[in-house]
Amino acid sequence: MRLAPMAGVTNAPFRLVARECGAGRLTSEELDATALVRDNAQTRALAAYLPEERPLAMQLLGADPDVLAEAARRLEAAGADGIDLNMGCPVAKIVAKGQGAALMRDPLAAVMIFRTLRKAVTGPFTIKIRGGWDDRILNAVEIAKLAEAEGVDAITVHPRTRAQQYTGVAPWDVIADVVHAVAIPVIGNGDVRDRDDARRMREATGCAGVMIGRAALGAPWVFSATAVDRDARARIIRRHVELILAHLPERTALVQLKKHLAWYSTGLPGSAQARPSIFESTDAARAQQIFWTLWSNAR
Ligand SMILES: Cc1cc2nc3c(=O)[nH]c(=O)nc-3n(C[C@H](O)[C@H](O)[C@H](O)COP(=O)(O)O)c2cc1C
Repeated sequence: MRLAPMAGVTNAPFRLVARECGAGRLTSEELDATALVRDNAQTRALAAYLPEERPLAMQLLGADPDVLAEAARRLEAAGADGIDLNMGCPVAKIVAKGQGAALMRDPLAAVMIFRTLRKAVTGPFTIKIRGGWDDRILNAVEIAKLAEAEGVDAITVHPRTRAQQYTGVAPWDVIADVVHAVAIPVIGNGDVRDRDDARRMREATGCAGVMIGRAALGAPWVFSATAVDRDARARIIRRHVELILAHLPERTALVQLKKHLAWYSTGLPGSAQARPSIFESTDAARAQQIFWTLWSNAR
């Protein structure tokens, strides 16, 4: 089982914790190809990783084939073990630039990108697609076949359309359609909450692997093959906190710490009331104190 790329969430500390819990091949969050090529400091920080995370694919967001190719070359030179192309991001300002899910609407442009990136990338080159743009352009199968013909190594399918964003139920039959249409590995994604769901998705679609996104928020132990008890969970959370504080710049660290502690507090008695005070904390120690009080009270 793999951890899905999630912008603002799946940075090095969270990815490493997921790996230590049992997650397979990791992917960075989406990285803006233009910003990478311009050596933007913020994007460079987003591309940072820890050696223990490898193998790690880096995900690119972009629409210009040459810019994407240059960004891919730089990421591989910096140690990326593969390049993934984002064809699923539904955010309005991204698709307005022809990027993310907008590539699903434009198969010709997608083919040019596949061809250019395939030449530039030495390691595995993968793509992450949606079911289509909207319910009139349900073309995951078409895009997958084009990608296979251009030498793409594997495809992740999140079967909602761009129009569906993250609403409704992920239509897994679209994953099965892609599995039947291509010979390269297809990774299924969408609404998998635990190992049972993952098994059901494999059985229902024949996918080669399963990717989990939202169900891993506040629960990276979802990747573990065995049950993870309360003490083990506390150790995982402490490890995650340590990694955040050790490896992220101070301001980012505080934002990440609060966000993840709020997720870890989900379901603990009193968490709804305490959550605002986690977010209002102006230092890491205070946020941790609030969280661990909630944690101890839940015993
Ligand atoms: C907060 C958030 C950020 C996301 N960022 C990305 C991203 O950077 N790249 C990407 O390909 N998908 C991104 N996604 C989509 C997820 O990778 C995944 O396809 C989607 O959440 C469905 O899987 P799930 O039902 O397991 O959450 C994001 C999703 C969420 C919730």
